[in-house]
Amino acid sequence: MTELKDKIAIVTGAAVGLGNAYAKALAKEGVNLAVCDIRPEINQVRDELAEMGVDCIGSEGDVSNPDFVKHFVDVTKSKFGHIDILINNAGVWGASVADDDMEKTLEDYENIVGTNLKGEFLFGRAVIPVMIDQGTGGDIINVATDHMVTCGTPDYYCEGNSECPHQDDPHGIGNVGGGPRPTGGGDAMDLYDASKWALNGLLYGWAKALKGHRIRVNALCMGATDSYMLRSFHDFNPSDEEVSQWMRAEDNAEVMIGILKEGVGGRNAQNHQFCMGREVALESPRPQIYVLEDDVKIGGQSHVG
Ligand SMILES: NC(=O)c1ccc[n+]([C@@H]2O[C@H](COP(=O)([O-])OP(=O)(O)OC[C@H]3O[C@@H](n4cnc5c(N)ncnc54)[C@H](O)[C@@H]3O)[C@@H](O)[C@H]2O)c1
Repeated sequence: MTELKDKIAIVTGAAVGLGNAYAKALAKEGVNLAVCDIRPEINQVRDELAEMGVDCIGSEGDVSNPDFVKHFVDVTKSKFGHIDILINNAGVWGASVADDDMEKTLEDYENIVGTNLKGEFLFGRAVIPVMIDQGTGGDIINVATDHMVTCGTPDYYCEGNSECPHQDDPHGIGNVGGGPRPTGGGDAMDLYDASKWALNGLLYGWAKALKGHRIRVNALCMGATDSYMLRSFHDFNPSDEEVSQWMRAEDNAEVMIGILKEGVGGRNAQNHQFCMGREVALESPRPQIYVLEDDVKIGGQSHVG
């Protein structure tokens, strides 16, 4: 198990919700932090994190803005000297449907794809060269959704799992009982889902390119977790029953800490699934099907370190 104390982590979208829980969980482990968010509350969050006894910088900014991302990463590097962990969490949800008019579509695209895909892409591009130069490895965790990875993908996940709450799901597609359930959100989520499915491209591409540099890349695929975003779906007035079924951001954050503590020999290129109705816990790594030893080749050269 790897000690996280005194490592340096960037957490995007840390003002509220999951990002806030990730930053606090890291601070509890003694990780020094650079946090950012489009909300001004990030300045107060920075002070709260510093009160937990870690060194922390915070900045208000938009993850889809390349100038902001570059500046923020440069400032983090100058302040701490290195960057060990990137938690690419900032995200937005907005309703979008297949026949939206062009004006709305373009606004939605900038906002949803700009934050969920471009933001994670830009932070990766800014941080990865720093991690490579350091030569000490690193961890990147992208935050995705259970719309792209449920127990339906890959379907062997549920095999033999009698705990699976979707075993008897009549809409299931898998090979065990009625479940697992299919992927995808509702019909008003085409852009949100597209922006999150696209994260698989970053996950597998980065994991392959960076394995030789001992940089792991994993993703967290959230199911319904109590946060500002989820409450906004329910007009900020969810029933007690709904809330009781949701996962807690603090529990998800513990799983993230577990992945980070695995260190360089730990899982890589994996989508960790969080499924409402099942205990939130660190799942066993799945068989490695995307980043095989002889698969990591660029231009015919093996890049496996
Ligand atoms: N909560 C859930 O049930 C759930 C489910 C699936 C996926 N997710 C994903 O988890 C991540 C966190 O979501 P959450 O539920 O905590 O949402 P949230 O709205 O509660 O928090 C998101 C944070 O990101 C910040 N943010 C948004 N756009 C930004 C931008 N352009 N630049 C900088 N910061 C920005 C927000 O201000 C906010 O502080 C997102 O990527 C989301 O898609 C959440």
